Amino acid sequence: MLVTTVDKNGRINAAPMSFVMPVEMDPPILAFSTSYESDTYRNISETGEFVANLVTAEVKKQMYICGRSFPRGVNELEKAGLHWEPSKKVKPPGVVECPANLECKLEWTHEGPEYIVVAGRVVAMNVRKGTLRAGKLNVEQVKPLLHLSGKSFIIGDHTTEL
Ligand SMILES: Cc1cc2nc3c(=O)[nH]c(=O)nc-3n(C[C@H](O)[C@H](O)[C@H](O)COP(=O)(O)O)c2cc1C
Repeated sequence: MLVTTVDKNGRINAAPMSFVMPVEMDPPILAFSTSYESDTYRNISETGEFVANLVTAEVKKQMYICGRSFPRGVNELEKAGLHWEPSKKVKPPGVVECPANLECKLEWTHEGPEYIVVAGRVVAMNVRKGTLRAGKLNVEQVKPLLHLSGKSFIIGDHTTEL
Protein backbone atom coordinates (compact mmCIF):
# COMPACT_ATOMS: atom_id res chain seq x y z
CA MET A 1 0.00 0.00 0.00
CA LEU A 2 0.95 3.62 -0.33
CA VAL A 3 0.78 5.44 3.01
CA THR A 4 0.03 9.15 2.94
CA THR A 5 0.72 11.35 5.95
CA VAL A 6 1.22 15.03 6.69
CA ASP A 7 3.66 16.66 9.07
CA LYS A 8 2.57 19.18 11.71
CA ASN A 9 2.77 21.93 9.07
CA GLY A 10 0.50 20.03 6.70
CA ARG A 11 3.21 19.01 4.22
CA ILE A 12 2.21 15.85 2.37
CA ASN A 13 4.31 12.67 2.36
CA ALA A 14 3.77 9.34 0.62
CA ALA A 15 5.67 6.06 0.96
CA PRO A 16 5.09 2.47 -0.16
CA MET A 17 4.80 0.03 2.75
CA SER A 18 4.52 -3.68 2.07
CA PHE A 19 4.73 -4.97 5.66
CA VAL A 20 0.96 -4.59 6.16
CA MET A 21 -1.75 -6.54 7.92
CA PRO A 22 -5.32 -6.18 9.22
CA VAL A 23 -5.37 -6.84 12.98
CA GLU A 24 -8.96 -6.26 14.14
CA MET A 25 -12.36 -6.49 12.44
CA ASP A 26 -14.60 -4.39 14.68
CA PRO A 27 -13.56 -1.66 14.89
CA PRO A 28 -11.32 -2.28 11.87
CA ILE A 29 -7.64 -1.85 12.67
CA LEU A 30 -4.90 -1.93 10.07
CA ALA A 31 -1.20 -2.18 10.92
CA PHE A 32 2.05 -1.77 9.08
CA SER A 33 5.67 -1.89 10.05
CA THR A 34 8.06 0.95 9.31
CA SER A 35 11.54 2.11 10.22
CA TYR A 36 11.90 4.64 13.03
CA GLU A 37 13.69 6.97 10.60
CA SER A 38 10.90 7.10 8.00
CA ASP A 39 9.13 10.41 7.46
CA THR A 40 5.95 8.37 7.55
CA TYR A 41 6.57 7.39 11.17
CA ARG A 42 7.73 10.88 12.14
CA ASN A 43 4.58 12.39 10.65
CA ILE A 44 2.30 9.87 12.36
CA SER A 45 4.06 10.63 15.67
CA GLU A 46 3.22 14.30 15.12
CA THR A 47 -0.35 13.99 13.86
CA GLY A 48 -1.65 10.51 14.79
CA GLU A 49 -3.13 10.02 11.32
CA PHE A 50 -2.45 8.25 8.03
CA VAL A 51 -4.24 7.06 4.92
CA ALA A 52 -3.62 3.59 3.47
CA ASN A 53 -4.04 3.69 -0.31
CA LEU A 54 -4.44 0.45 -2.23
CA VAL A 55 -1.77 0.09 -4.93
CA THR A 56 -2.62 -1.47 -8.28
CA ALA A 57 -0.56 -2.72 -11.20
CA GLU A 58 -1.45 0.46 -13.09
CA VAL A 59 0.49 2.68 -10.68
CA LYS A 60 3.42 0.40 -9.86
CA LYS A 61 6.03 2.75 -11.35
CA GLN A 62 4.62 5.80 -9.57
CA MET A 63 4.45 3.84 -6.29
CA TYR A 64 8.11 2.86 -6.71
CA ILE A 65 9.14 6.49 -7.23
CA CYS A 66 7.45 7.33 -3.90
CA GLY A 67 9.82 4.81 -2.27
CA ARG A 68 12.89 6.83 -3.16
CA SER A 69 14.58 8.72 -0.38
CA PHE A 70 13.49 12.35 -0.67
CA PRO A 71 14.25 15.01 1.96
CA ARG A 72 11.59 15.55 4.60
CA GLY A 73 8.86 17.88 3.39
CA VAL A 74 9.04 16.77 -0.26
CA ASN A 75 5.68 15.60 -1.59
CA GLU A 76 6.45 12.25 -3.24
CA LEU A 77 3.04 12.23 -4.94
CA GLU A 78 4.06 15.31 -6.88
CA LYS A 79 7.42 13.70 -7.78
CA ALA A 80 5.63 10.59 -9.02
CA GLY A 81 2.93 12.44 -10.97
CA LEU A 82 0.15 11.14 -8.73
CA HIS A 83 -2.86 13.20 -7.63
CA TRP A 84 -4.48 13.61 -4.23
CA GLU A 85 -7.77 14.77 -2.77
CA PRO A 86 -8.93 15.76 0.72
CA SER A 87 -9.95 12.96 3.08
CA LYS A 88 -13.23 12.96 4.97
CA LYS A 89 -12.00 12.55 8.56
CA VAL A 90 -8.21 12.92 8.62
CA LYS A 91 -5.73 15.51 7.37
CA PRO A 92 -3.58 13.29 5.09
CA PRO A 93 -5.09 13.15 1.60
CA GLY A 94 -6.17 10.11 -0.40
CA VAL A 95 -4.40 9.17 -3.63
CA VAL A 96 -6.80 9.61 -6.55
CA GLU A 97 -5.22 6.86 -8.70
CA CYS A 98 -5.63 4.29 -5.90
CA PRO A 99 -9.05 2.55 -5.92
CA ALA A 100 -9.43 2.53 -2.12
CA ASN A 101 -8.26 5.03 0.48
CA LEU A 102 -8.56 3.93 4.10
CA GLU A 103 -8.45 6.86 6.51
CA CYS A 104 -6.84 5.85 9.80
CA LYS A 105 -6.28 7.29 13.25
CA LEU A 106 -3.37 5.96 15.31
CA GLU A 107 -4.53 3.36 17.81
CA TRP A 108 -1.28 1.83 19.12
CA THR A 109 2.34 1.09 18.24
CA HIS A 110 4.62 -1.84 18.99
CA GLU A 111 8.34 -1.18 19.11
CA GLY A 112 10.69 -3.70 17.51
CA PRO A 113 14.49 -3.38 17.39
CA GLU A 114 14.59 -1.64 14.00
CA TYR A 115 10.98 -1.33 12.94
CA ILE A 116 7.88 -0.11 14.67
CA VAL A 117 4.42 -1.52 14.06
CA VAL A 118 1.89 1.27 13.65
CA ALA A 119 -1.77 0.33 14.01
CA GLY A 120 -4.58 2.64 12.98
CA ARG A 121 -8.35 2.49 13.32
CA VAL A 122 -10.05 2.88 9.97
CA VAL A 123 -12.38 5.84 10.53
CA ALA A 124 -13.51 6.40 6.93
CA MET A 125 -13.13 4.81 3.53
CA ASN A 126 -13.19 6.10 0.01
CA VAL A 127 -13.79 3.27 -2.45
CA ARG A 128 -14.00 4.11 -6.13
CA LYS A 129 -16.63 2.72 -8.49
CA GLY A 130 -15.88 -0.79 -9.77
CA THR A 131 -13.50 -1.59 -6.89
CA LEU A 132 -15.91 -3.96 -5.13
CA ARG A 133 -18.08 -6.78 -6.46
CA ALA A 134 -20.53 -8.56 -4.14
CA GLY A 135 -18.80 -6.86 -1.21
CA LYS A 136 -15.34 -8.17 -2.13
CA LEU A 137 -12.39 -6.61 -3.89
CA ASN A 138 -12.99 -6.97 -7.63
CA VAL A 139 -9.45 -8.19 -8.30
CA GLU A 140 -9.98 -8.87 -12.03
CA GLN A 141 -10.80 -5.20 -12.45
CA VAL A 142 -8.54 -3.63 -9.84
CA LYS A 143 -5.40 -5.82 -10.17
CA PRO A 144 -3.94 -5.17 -6.71
CA LEU A 145 -0.18 -5.32 -6.36
CA LEU A 146 1.58 -7.47 -3.75
CA HIS A 147 5.25 -6.93 -3.03
CA LEU A 148 7.41 -10.05 -3.46
CA SER A 149 10.90 -8.59 -2.93
CA GLY A 150 13.08 -5.84 -4.37
CA LYS A 151 11.54 -4.86 -7.69
CA SER A 152 9.37 -7.99 -7.96
CA PHE A 153 5.62 -7.89 -7.46
CA ILE A 154 2.64 -10.23 -7.72
CA ILE A 155 -0.40 -8.98 -9.61
CA GLY A 156 -3.63 -10.24 -8.03
CA ASP A 157 -5.91 -10.71 -11.03
CA HIS A 158 -8.12 -13.70 -10.19
CA THR A 159 -9.68 -15.46 -7.21
CA THR A 160 -10.21 -19.10 -6.34
CA GLU A 161 -12.94 -20.62 -4.13
CA LEU A 162 -12.75 -23.66 -1.85
C1 LIG B 1 7.55 -1.83 -2.73
C2 LIG B 1 8.14 -1.21 -1.50
C3 LIG B 1 7.73 -1.63 -0.25
C4 LIG B 1 8.25 -1.05 0.92
N1 LIG B 1 7.80 -1.47 2.15
C5 LIG B 1 8.26 -0.87 3.26
C6 LIG B 1 7.75 -1.25 4.54
O1 LIG B 1 6.88 -2.11 4.67
N2 LIG B 1 8.25 -0.61 5.64
C7 LIG B 1 9.21 0.37 5.53
O2 LIG B 1 9.63 0.93 6.55
N3 LIG B 1 9.72 0.74 4.33
C8 LIG B 1 9.25 0.16 3.21
N4 LIG B 1 9.72 0.54 1.98
C9 LIG B 1 10.74 1.59 1.92
C10 LIG B 1 10.12 2.96 2.10
O3 LIG B 1 9.03 3.16 1.22
C11 LIG B 1 11.22 4.02 1.81
O4 LIG B 1 12.24 3.89 2.78
C12 LIG B 1 10.68 5.41 1.76
O5 LIG B 1 11.69 6.28 1.33
C13 LIG B 1 10.20 5.87 3.11
O6 LIG B 1 9.62 7.13 2.87
P1 LIG B 1 9.35 8.19 3.97
O7 LIG B 1 10.68 8.51 4.64
O8 LIG B 1 8.83 9.35 3.17
O9 LIG B 1 8.36 7.63 4.93
C14 LIG B 1 9.23 -0.03 0.81
C15 LIG B 1 9.65 0.39 -0.46
C16 LIG B 1 9.11 -0.19 -1.60
C17 LIG B 1 9.57 0.29 -2.95
